[in-house]
Amino acid sequence: MKKVFVNRTENYYKNIRDVREGIENELTISHVLKSPNPFTRTRLPYGTILARSLDIPKNPRILEVGPGLGDLAESLCGELESFHYTFMDVSSEFINYLKSKFRGSEFSFIIGDFLNIKTREKFDLIICNEVLADLPTIVGMTFESPQVSEDEKETYYDAVSLAKLYGLKISDIINFNYGAVKFLEKAANMLKEGGKVFVCEHSSKTPRRIRVYGHSEYTINFDVLGKVAERLGFRTKRGSLTRLLGINNKKAIIFYTQPELKVLYNFFKRQGIFLDQKAYEIKEVIELLEKNGVQIPRKKDYAGFLEKHAKPLRKITDQFNYLILLSK
Ligand SMILES: C[S@@+](CC[C@H](N)C(=O)[O-])C[C@H]1O[C@@H](n2cnc3c(N)ncnc32)[C@H](O)[C@@H]1O
Repeated sequence: MKKVFVNRTENYYKNIRDVREGIENELTISHVLKSPNPFTRTRLPYGTILARSLDIPKNPRILEVGPGLGDLAESLCGELESFHYTFMDVSSEFINYLKSKFRGSEFSFIIGDFLNIKTREKFDLIICNEVLADLPTIVGMTFESPQVSEDEKETYYDAVSLAKLYGLKISDIINFNYGAVKFLEKAANMLKEGGKVFVCEHSSKTPRRIRVYGHSEYTINFDVLGKVAERLGFRTKRGSLTRLLGINNKKAIIFYTQPELKVLYNFFKRQGIFLDQKAYEIKEVIELLEKNGVQIPRKKDYAGFLEKHAKPLRKITDQFNYLILLSK
């Protein structure tokens, strides 16, 4: 008998106490590209590019699921004249942080698991950025006499009927992005006429485990998502995040992704100095360190060291896909 289990992350997120540290441990693309930068073709932040690509109607009602620190929302809202923006997150800490950052009657906040939340509200746009991999994944999916724990049976059998409903071949899927499919079903029901859904996530043909601080995620099979979206009656547009954002080949430094630089980052953090966790060019890192009192006697050698550790940002963004559901 094949052992099947459900990968979940809700408890991890519900227990995050330091939201900034929570996002630093994951370093999402929207976080490292939250400000104008030399890595996107237009040099604009992620949210600005998204707002300009989505053809958002006037005075839209927008829902963002799993907004984290609201990095995407900040630049996206900057492109809109009037709007209503609802943040929904499973973590009360993230929502408390967002409440202090986004003030005004145009913002609403909901704490809860999107897959279980009940609301009759309808939206023009639903955004879900780097969250799908956190939703439940059935690991080792099979139709043949699986070994499933009592607690997980209901989820497993629901996943089986979902896979059958959407004509997915279990032999092809191995690990099943059950939560991501449920997300699309639910989001589809929460759209106003003509509404859209935007999702973006780390993608691969077979969902594979990624170990992240304190939890595991599973990459998303976008072929499965595309098929489900079409069965739900949507036209779809999809592609790589590199193309959507126009990411160039420039090398970037992100402190948390390099052990040596993480030590430096943590050194400052212990003194109460939080270096902005974004994608930096090498010269920017040197300027930043000098601004914070670090003396760099052999600047050329240090720049060489940084150069050795820098990587093109597109090496990461090439692994991410987006999907837009468009009403027919
Ligand atoms: C990897 S972070 C992404 C944050 C943000 N979207 C970004 O791109 O920086 C995942 C976020 O989704 C939230 N989340 C995870 N599971 C969720 C669920 N089932 N319902 C609502 N929010 C969820 C987490 O609390 C966290 O804010």
